[in-house]
Amino acid sequence: MHRVSAMFRGVAVAGVLLGLAGCQTAPTAVAPPTPTFGEAFTPIDAATQNTAMARGVNVLGYDPLWKDAFKARFTTDHFRIIRQAGFSNIRLVMQSFDFIDASGKLDPKWLATLDVMVKAALDQGLTVTLDEHDYELCGKDIDTCRTKLKAFWTQVAPHFKDAPNRVLFEILNEPHGEMTVPLWNAQLKEELAIIRASNPTRNIVIGPGAWNGLEQLPYLELPKDDQHIIVVVHYYHPMEFTHQGAAWVPAYTNKLGVSWGSAADYALLNKEFDVIKAWSVANNRPIYLNEFGAYDKAAMADRATWDGAIARAAEARGFSWAYWQLDPDFVLYDFAKSGWVKPILDALIPPQTKN
Ligand code: BGC
Repeated sequence: MHRVSAMFRGVAVAGVLLGLAGCQTAPTAVAPPTPTFGEAFTPIDAATQNTAMARGVNVLGYDPLWKDAFKARFTTDHFRIIRQAGFSNIRLVMQSFDFIDASGKLDPKWLATLDVMVKAALDQGLTVTLDEHDYELCGKDIDTCRTKLKAFWTQVAPHFKDAPNRVLFEILNEPHGEMTVPLWNAQLKEELAIIRASNPTRNIVIGPGAWNGLEQLPYLELPKDDQHIIVVVHYYHPMEFTHQGAAWVPAYTNKLGVSWGSAADYALLNKEFDVIKAWSVANNRPIYLNEFGAYDKAAMADRATWDGAIARAAEARGFSWAYWQLDPDFVLYDFAKSGWVKPILDALIPPQTKN
């Protein structure tokens, strides 16, 4: 829904984000060198890593910084704020396709900005999932999607091959539409092969087709001999509650005043999370619930109740999680006030459980 344009001032962006506005470098056509992070890569078991990831938040997907550094809301200091609030992981939402040219080359300036963000997040001790989020195009133009997705991982995977194990790759957010379940099962294997050529043991994040919904877990096909995979599920049930007033879901755009929190609501939540857990145990794959949230049009108290219930249900079953999203909607952090939306933060991370 929020598309980014191809206009970009990448290297200048990196300078501004680091607070080096006076030291901007002229844009360069040369790809940035593989970054160094001061921490070597060591393989880590997927389940162990997933436990350490614990609590997280989606960031940067719709921030203006990707096209204009001077309009950035998010700065590298927000990683410190996020860590201090008690989060251990971030899902870095990347809409890269507009920055891949006709020859398949990813804009080096875009990549330089990504490097700055990844390094700053790692420096705060956060785990970073690099999420390719061009799911809208992939849902309606499979050919362009396949070309761009392949170009993306062919360049990004080797670029981060020496990054610490706290950098994970998520192949594609919410495959759906033209990217049918069978096509997604084939596609994910192709992308995984590209990634494995340079990152044989990095943990990779993959969700099932049809919007990463829990109903699709039984149809997800993963290579049995690859244990360095963490499986993603997204959860927005019931949609009439979480998406009430949302312009992009016509069925619920005019439906307001839906509350949540009855015994039946909790029963459905627990039943569905038990289904996810059973799949996880039967298939020996850890679960990362890396999108859940209730849109801003629901009553704040109900949003907090639902967000807290989902986070606790995930934790009770050993799933790591990442809330959707820091900003600009489902808002958890208010950039205008430079402060957290406290009811949501306290629901996600009850102060007495903060680490
Ligand atoms: C999309 C967002 C949307 C959210 C909830 C995400 O995957 O990227 O645009 O707001 O799902 O519907």
